[in-house]
Amino acid sequence: MGSHLSDRFFNEGYHVIGMDNLLTGSLSNIAHLMSEKYFEFYHHDVSKFVHVTGELDYILHFASPASPIDYLKMPIQTLKVGSLGTHNLLGLARQKNARILVASTSEVYGDPEVNPQNEDYWGNVNPIGPRGVYDEAKRFQEAMTMAYHNVHNLETRIVRIFNTYGPRMRLNDGRALPAFMSQALTNEDITVFGDGSQTRSFCFVDDMVEGIFRLLQSDYYLPVNIGNPEEISILEFANEILKLIPESKSKITFKDLPADDPKLRRPDITRAKEVLGWTPKVDRTEGLRMTLDYFKNQIKN
Ligand SMILES: NC(=O)c1ccc[n+]([C@@H]2O[C@H](COP(=O)([O-])OP(=O)(O)OC[C@H]3O[C@@H](n4cnc5c(N)ncnc54)[C@H](O)[C@@H]3O)[C@@H](O)[C@H]2O)c1
Repeated sequence: MGSHLSDRFFNEGYHVIGMDNLLTGSLSNIAHLMSEKYFEFYHHDVSKFVHVTGELDYILHFASPASPIDYLKMPIQTLKVGSLGTHNLLGLARQKNARILVASTSEVYGDPEVNPQNEDYWGNVNPIGPRGVYDEAKRFQEAMTMAYHNVHNLETRIVRIFNTYGPRMRLNDGRALPAFMSQALTNEDITVFGDGSQTRSFCFVDDMVEGIFRLLQSDYYLPVNIGNPEEISILEFANEILKLIPESKSKITFKDLPADDPKLRRPDITRAKEVLGWTPKVDRTEGLRMTLDYFKNQIKN
């Protein structure tokens, strides 16, 4: 998402500074920006002290392992970047008198007891379960951000991002969409966890970037859900992807459901509509086609 946000802000005329320790990210996603005068890149771990020279108007804190495969492999880095990383960047925002937006997640709702989830729902998270490292890091991030807002009057924004997809995802990052697409393109079995009745709601990255851009420009400091409210079961989703790749010989197989896997996931976006005038525009078939074209190219090269 960082590369897409960099593109958007760069195209709006901002001088963009990217900072990433490349734990899960790839420089190839920003290769097209590297020679630009108004784009800079720092290879840095934001869980360590962050120094940037000059003035800053905005800080967008998106650093974190984000897919379950990543944060289950790197639980301590995940907790550190959500806590120490957030603290460092809030400090930087204070020093620079900058507005800061932090990337929270629908995972703060855990395995929700209400569907759809609106921002007033406090969530159902198992703090010591394997996914707790991500969910609790993001919950801490929100708490720390609100504390800086309340104590230091810092201009803060909190976006609760629901599943987002699009070009530049890694084929092997373990999330359902790249897994299904790469399996279908290589004629391997499509592995659905559980019976596939668990639901997700998938938002195309361009819609997400628009929502984030609007939230950053708004005056609203409480958390805002950004996501696509169209809910689909994972089994239906696997079938939808197979339909897009009619030449595939893949068959659907079932695997055990991972611990604490949320059964339902759907954003209530009333707040985003009212406060930001935002709704997603890209429908799933169109978004999936664009993502599939990207993955086909990746597999070819
Ligand atoms: N993609 C989604 O569906 C989704 C959903 C909810 C929340 N989010 C949040 O959005 C943000 C971006 O996610 P993404 O999907 O683009 O994932 P991503 O893995 O593509 O990007 C995360 C980036 O953070 C970098 N990073 C990790 N730890 C770091 C550290 N300590 N210092 C500097 N950089 C570090 C990684 O190298 C990577 O480039 C994350 O904070 C994630 O939690 C994403």
